[in-house]
Amino acid sequence: MNYPNLPEDCTSMLCKHLTPEVFEALKDKTTANGFTLEQAINSGVMNIDSGIGVYAGDEESYSTFAPLFDKIIEDYHGFGKEDKHQSNLNPDDLNAPNPDPDGEFIISTRIRVGRNVANLPLGPAISKEQRDLVESSVVEGLNTLEGELEGSYHPLLGMSKEVQDELIKDHFLFKEGDRFLDAVGLNRNWPEGRGIYHNKEKTFLVWVNEEDQLRIISMQMGGDIKEVFTRLVNAIKSIESKVQFSYNDHIGYITSCPTNLGTAMRASVHIAVPNLAKDMEAFKAITDKFYLQIRGIHGEHSESEGGVYDISNRRRLGITEVQAVQDMHDGVVALIEAEKALKA
Ligand code: ADP
Ligand code: ARG
Repeated sequence: MNYPNLPEDCTSMLCKHLTPEVFEALKDKTTANGFTLEQAINSGVMNIDSGIGVYAGDEESYSTFAPLFDKIIEDYHGFGKEDKHQSNLNPDDLNAPNPDPDGEFIISTRIRVGRNVANLPLGPAISKEQRDLVESSVVEGLNTLEGELEGSYHPLLGMSKEVQDELIKDHFLFKEGDRFLDAVGLNRNWPEGRGIYHNKEKTFLVWVNEEDQLRIISMQMGGDIKEVFTRLVNAIKSIESKVQFSYNDHIGYITSCPTNLGTAMRASVHIAVPNLAKDMEAFKAITDKFYLQIRGIHGEHSESEGGVYDISNRRRLGITEVQAVQDMHDGVVALIEAEKALKA
């Protein structure tokens, strides 16, 4: 393999950190699952507009290709090679009263974590048999959940286009055909092995075999962040008692994209800030201060509609889950204050 063709004006972390020296040192390395540098970088090579541009095929990718991954992890999370990740899933440590009790600004709240099953390759390097095994064993565990978490599994295979589109439109289900995932082989054998579990109210959901093997999701209308977090923690603990997840003391929960390592948590609100949105510089000054990311209304790589944005924590590694949610809460309080001042 030769050094890839990366245009001068490419701004992804791949383009920034894949120097010819790093490339030379890694180009012939392979993990025990047969995952190569070429595969790890293909998404960023094929999608030059990537923000990141790399994926791991297995936990070992993070050590085998460390000269590249460590740089990207440091750049994205501010997390160094010697740092240690810490987890804290105790809702009592979270100080998050509803920032919008009158329901003027926050439409809905959602918190998700990514998880992958221990001792198996991640999605980019998994075989069809292994992926199907993940689906059957995870669903077996999910089917034993009780109380608020009790629900049913809906495989993508055999789901009608209407039902699938409706679930996507209503923000419950992942999209299909993501070009970034496509290029790293995460969409192989689609739709087999993929599906969604959810309770009746759709306040607790689990995505199976998308970018990560599990995405555990808690969501509801309004701004009660603590209630959403508490339900998520209960769900994580219940599932963890049945399925062993891939975790490492240095980088926390192992995920296929380095942006999700650590807590693998993205806590978001859909929030209407039409006045603030007229001054993107002021808007970004607040989100930057609280380490937040702005997304559009249909998730990553989508646009805002009617001044409604998806606001979430940007940092996931080297901070605890409680801190990740606290970042989001505190930033949302500041955004609402700014929006109120502009409205007056
Ligand atoms: P992920 O959360 O897994 O990183 P996306 O950004 O693609 O992935 O979001 C997945 C879906 O969740 C999208 O349909 C998005 O609109 C929806 N979503 C995210 N945050 C919220 C929220 N606070 N309320 C309602 N839906 C949300
Ligand atoms: N690979 C894509 C990029 O580099 C997405 C990165 C972060 N998002 C994610 N869903 N992992 O732009």
